[in-house]
Amino acid sequence: GVKQDLEGKHVMITAGPTVEPIDPVRYISNRSSGKTGYAIARAARRRGADVTLITGPVSIPAPSDVHVVHVNTALEMLQACEDAFPSADIALFSAAVADMRPAHAADHKLKKGAADADLGTITLVENPDILATLGAKKGPHQVVVGFAAETDNVIANAQAKLAKKNADVIVANRVGEGLAFGTDDNAVCFVDADEIDETPSMPKDKLADVILDHALEYLR
Ligand code: PMT
Repeated sequence: GVKQDLEGKHVMITAGPTVEPIDPVRYISNRSSGKTGYAIARAARRRGADVTLITGPVSIPAPSDVHVVHVNTALEMLQACEDAFPSADIALFSAAVADMRPAHAADHKLKKGAADADLGTITLVENPDILATLGAKKGPHQVVVGFAAETDNVIANAQAKLAKKNADVIVANRVGEGLAFGTDDNAVCFVDADEIDETPSMPKDKLADVILDHALEYLR
């Protein structure tokens, strides 16, 4: 049997991308598959946790015996996180939240040459930072695990995010061809206030357990 070291704990996880509508047929999003977040949700459930999985649109089946909240936009994901966070013992923010959204989602398809649509310009506004918003509300008994996906200066950027978003640890991902987004295997770097701990590449299912092992250290 699997060790039930998360029994009695509420674990919340965000997963996948958010999608930000431009009009009824178009959107802004990113390449997150949800594999990482779903693997963490399954692993936490196997280890006995009550699990809330807050997920953007992905093509992975919902894990059984997990409370799944489906969202599309960053604003919807923020609301779902605000609802789940107060009772969470461990919160893991693996979603790739779109940093920006169109200022206005058109209610009809934007057409080339139409008087009301300049297809060369979409005005964007910044989305709220979900991790920073919840991190600021972190209680002494709560563990917050942030993620970071970077092409350059991975460690320095993760250290900056650790402080800015009040996370206990940042799981840093190097982004590139065959790395992080959409892959089955991944290697990460755990960055906290004291140390940097690099993992070898492994299946995301196995990495999920390593991430939960790390999170548990901060709970003790
Ligand atoms: O889904 P997969 O295909 O398996 O890929 C997994 C992953 C690469 C998406 C995942 O491991 C990962 O790194 N997720 C975070 C991606 C990201 O958006 O990183 P970031 O550096 O932009 O954001 C840093 C942190 O702030 C993240 O925890 C993110 O969830 C959070 N954030 C970011 C922007 C925002 N508006 N709100 C947030 O909460």
